Amino acid sequence: MRDARATRKYLPRESPASNLTLKMNPNKALWEKGDFTRIADTMRESGEALVQCLGITKGTKVLDLGCGDGTTALPAAKLGADVVGVDIARNLVEAGNKRARELGLTNLKFQEGDASNLEQLPDKAFDLVVSIFGAMFAPKPFDVAKEMVRVTRPGGRIVMGNWIPNDPTLVAQILKISSSYTPPPPEGFVSPMTWGIESNVIERFAAAGVSAEKISFARDTFTFNFPGSPSGFVDEFRKYYGPTMNAFEAAEKNGQGADLQKELEELFNRQNQGKDATSIPATFLRVTAAV
Ligand SMILES: C[S@@+](CC[C@H](N)C(=O)[O-])C[C@H]1O[C@@H](n2cnc3c(N)ncnc32)[C@H](O)[C@@H]1O
Repeated sequence: MRDARATRKYLPRESPASNLTLKMNPNKALWEKGDFTRIADTMRESGEALVQCLGITKGTKVLDLGCGDGTTALPAAKLGADVVGVDIARNLVEAGNKRARELGLTNLKFQEGDASNLEQLPDKAFDLVVSIFGAMFAPKPFDVAKEMVRVTRPGGRIVMGNWIPNDPTLVAQILKISSSYTPPPPEGFVSPMTWGIESNVIERFAAAGVSAEKISFARDTFTFNFPGSPSGFVDEFRKYYGPTMNAFEAAEKNGQGADLQKELEELFNRQNQGKDATSIPATFLRVTAAV
């Protein structure tokens, strides 16, 4: 259903001045940079457990926004939902479609798109819009809220999982440590972590027409299970997780790569609850909005 306009938006454009290719959408570049499937592989059990609690039945129309390779989209399809997964990263869309094919799931398709502008999706099309650590990373959070509300049918729900700024658990700390090694973001940049603050969530949904009484919040946990040591898991982030890859690139330029590695290894070791393998729980804000 993607139209030509939506596709064109992501193609590198030509600079009239130099005729050189201009830099691509930095949000897309960030997530295509690494291979998030490597991290997603450690999140499958929590993804399954979360989806089990969403009241999905056969035929429920689900949009999974910022779906990656399907940590929550696949379990939803296995429950019989008709699922569309939308993600900005082409490599993750391809990986998701491959996983769906391998499982013979014909009620699930992944497609490229931007949570800030879902122009390829019609109004009121979904019973449930799920976005677990996905839409929070899109720019223009007010547009994101508006788009999520627009594509949800009246009587439907939006469920978001958002990391919480300054939370002491794993992901908030990885992002905090990483940002301390990275140059300040451009002016006007809104931190994804602001989706983990209840007043911001209320303000964004209010602007999209969903009042505060229709929004509920809960603290929930995702556990990362990695079949190796905590240091081995840090290496996965260093090699495959876009935000950490960028942090290492910036740190190395300043001769601080070893400092960043040490800080992350201390964090992962401190938080690990596994014995023979790594198991690290991370707290997030679960947002449910009734449309
Ligand atoms: C931390 S990953 C989570 C992926 C998946 N929800 C999961 O739990 O495995 C963040 C995802 O959001 C996607 N993303 C980031 N910005 C986006 C945007 N503007 N529109 C759609 N997806 C986006 C990334 O490509 C990535 O797949």
